Formats: sequence, C-alpha cells, structure tokens
Amino acid sequence: MRVIIKPDAAAACLTAARMFAKLVHQKPAAVLGLATGGTPVGCYAELIRLHRDEQLDFSRVTTFNLDEYVGLARTHGQSFYAFMFEKFFDHINIDRTRIHLPDGMASDLDAMCEGYEQAIATAGGIDLQLLGIGSDGHIAFNEPGSSLSSRTRVKTLTAETIRDNARFFGDEASVPRLSVTMGVGSILDAKRCILLVTGEKKAAAVRGAIEGPLTSQLTASALQFHRHAVAILDEAAASWLTRRDEYRFAESSMPDTDIWRPS
Ligand code: PGA
Repeated sequence: MRVIIKPDAAAACLTAARMFAKLVHQKPAAVLGLATGGTPVGCYAELIRLHRDEQLDFSRVTTFNLDEYVGLARTHGQSFYAFMFEKFFDHINIDRTRIHLPDGMASDLDAMCEGYEQAIATAGGIDLQLLGIGSDGHIAFNEPGSSLSSRTRVKTLTAETIRDNARFFGDEASVPRLSVTMGVGSILDAKRCILLVTGEKKAAAVRGAIEGPLTSQLTASALQFHRHAVAILDEAAASWLTRRDEYRFAESSMPDTDIWRPS
C-alpha cells in the first residue's frame, strides 16, 4: 500500500481532493465512491472550491456512497444521505440522478443491497473509492469479524462505533444499531482506493490496517490486497507506524497526486 504522510489534517484532505480532481479531469464520467464522517469533510470542501473557482465539472460524474443507517429517513439530519447533500452535492453541479446511496428505509433490505451491487456494476464499477477508518478498524460499516469477501448487506454496528458516532446524535441511545454497507469485497472491486485518516485516535487502527496482519478483525487491513490503494494520513494518524521513515523516503521522489502508481 502506498502511504502518504502530510503535516496536518488540512493537507491530507487537500491531497485526497486533488486525486479526485485529477481523475475527474481525466475521466469526466468517472464513477466516484464516497464516504461520510468527520474526516472527508475537508476533502469535499476543497472539491467544492475547485468547482467554484476552477470550474471542476461534476456534471457527468456518478457517485456511490459506502453505507447508510437502517431506519433513518433520508430527511433525518443524521442520515448519510442528508450529510452528503449538505457537505457536498448541494454545492456542485452533479446530476442528482447519478447520485446513489444505499436506502436504509427499503422495505426489502436484501433486495435493495443486491440492486445496489448491480447498479455499481452497471455503472462500470467504481473508479476511485474514498474510505475512512473507524477506531475499531472498520472500512465502511464492515465491523470486526466481517467477511473479507462480503458484499453490500445489513450489518450490526459495534458498541465502539455506536459510541464514536454518538457525537453526531447527541447520545448513544439515538444511534441506529443497524446499517446497510458495501462489503469488503465490494470495496476491493473499486479500481483505486484512498484511505484518508487523520488524528491520533485512529493511529492504532492505521497501524493495523497498513502494517498489521491481514485479518477480518480489522477490516481495513484487507486493503493490503488491493493493487491500487493509497493511505493519506496526517502526522498524528501515522504516529504508530513503525516504517514511517520508509514511507516518507518512498514518497520523496513521487508527485503526490499521481494516483496511477501501483502499490
Ligand atoms: P470519522 O469516521 O471520519 O467520523 O472518524 C470514519 C469511519 O468511521 O469510517
């Protein structure tokens, strides 16, 4: 896995945004895999700025989000659907018919999940997938113990994730217990992946993902299987990596927006 370490969270988000912008320039009808959470907000803010100031054109882009809570209406302020419009879609020229998020209110969730996988395949697969990591090492809502070949499905959230996300809901009791999430296998099918992580709280999970053994107990470690995965970290998130200096050395001769270099 390629590892890029930036001085702070803002610089890490900027680097991720530039990679997305470069892809959209090169392939205007790109299929983007998007993520929610506190971490990617800076990345979306920079993409909005590039749209506003430099006419970055999203009109032909298609998007698929990783996950959604089960049982929250799309109008609920904490649904990932609402988050994505507030933080990103409302501020760019995306065609709304090309926006996809799993529907956590579907009456037949299994059929919805299957349809979601089919929609990704019909769109030609995801060109570039943005990922965060949970403090328990999850990617999307693939909690510890998730099958490393899982597809989009209903997944229970761990107590740790519920605690982590309580900050968005005000209290733990209000956090949904179930999600619909792309699987680890669905994520590994993306042509390229960016794992964007900032903050010391994630340092242990980052070490497990990048340097730990491949294990379903820390599903981000499955990215070690991916041929084009890049981790973009700030210093704090990178602070537990034992080979930090090696990653810096490798990067010192590379332009950091070159997303095409194999890992
Ligand atoms: P965060 O969430 O960006 O809000 O920390 C990341 C995740 O849980 O994947």
